[in-house]
Amino acid sequence: MTDTSRLRARRTLLYVPGSDWRKMEKAAGLGADCVCLDLEDGVAPSSKPEARNLIAKALSELDFGMSERLVRVNAADSGIQAEDLALASHPNLQGMVLPKAASAAEVQAVGARLREAELERRLAPNTLSLLAQIESAMGLVDLKDIANADEHLVALIFGSEDFASDVGAIRTQEADEIFHARSAVVTYAAAFGLQAIDMLHVNFKDGEGLARLAAQGARLGYSGMQIVHPDQIAPVLAAFTPSAEEISWAQRVVDAYEQHAAEGRGAFALDGKMIDMPLVKAAQRVLARAGKAQQ
Ligand code: COA
Ligand code: MG
Repeated sequence: MTDTSRLRARRTLLYVPGSDWRKMEKAAGLGADCVCLDLEDGVAPSSKPEARNLIAKALSELDFGMSERLVRVNAADSGIQAEDLALASHPNLQGMVLPKAASAAEVQAVGARLREAELERRLAPNTLSLLAQIESAMGLVDLKDIANADEHLVALIFGSEDFASDVGAIRTQEADEIFHARSAVVTYAAAFGLQAIDMLHVNFKDGEGLARLAAQGARLGYSGMQIVHPDQIAPVLAAFTPSAEEISWAQRVVDAYEQHAAEGRGAFALDGKMIDMPLVKAAQRVLARAGKAQQ
């Protein structure tokens, strides 16, 4: 297991159609935590062969800075995934996103290809990352097996629109109809030590709605969110990066805890609020997230 790829911040995961050179060029310089060069639903079927070539060229020629360089392959049942997986051999690829993950076997198939690529590229085991998208009824039903399927897996991604369509839900702004799935994905991710990346807001001109959704995702325990447009980076980054007030509160809680623990005391009061272990752990998580944000 490589701690660097497991621990890196994945607050903003920006999709870019692999068939659109202009957008890939642009995406390279936006400072998103992850840039996901897409071969799946963002690319028309007739453009997929060209998109594979353009992605290889982008990985070779563009400077993505600190952004993680990911490729989203087509789904296991698409019949064309093997051609997409060839990109794992590219020396600049850092990870792959598997859409519509519906079983452990699908995740393991991509994991095996990443292992092969690691051998070819003389990389340590599990240097390459795998992120699985949960966006179908079967994906939700198989969550436990999927989350535990392969050592390359670093994150689960909740695909709200495909999920809603698969179960026949009607999407609303309140998003009640997908709340169970959204909450399940973050729970299984936590149970298996994975990051959780939240749904996207398709209405990319609605900054207010995006900020609300991102804040809700952060409260649920998600570590980041999918995005489709450059304007979505700043609001999402803000929601998933602890504020100065949150950091200073968390530091006070941890300091006070350490002092009380040294004196052999458990629960204690701080600013009129009872602090015990769950709150201390939450404060430690805030500090860990703040540390990651600075890397
Ligand atoms: N990555 C990088 N740059 C992007 C971008 C993205 N995802 N989306 C938009 N841009 C760029 C545009 O190229 C444009 O730059 P330019 O004027 O310098 O060329 C600028 O940002 C403003 O774009 P705008 O005109 O507001 O949007 P658009 O009409 O060009 O594109 C979408 C709108 C939705 C088609 C586009 O945002 C997009 O392709 N998003 C990703 C879609 C995707 O991958 N879907 C599959 C996963 S869900
Ligand atoms: Mg999808």
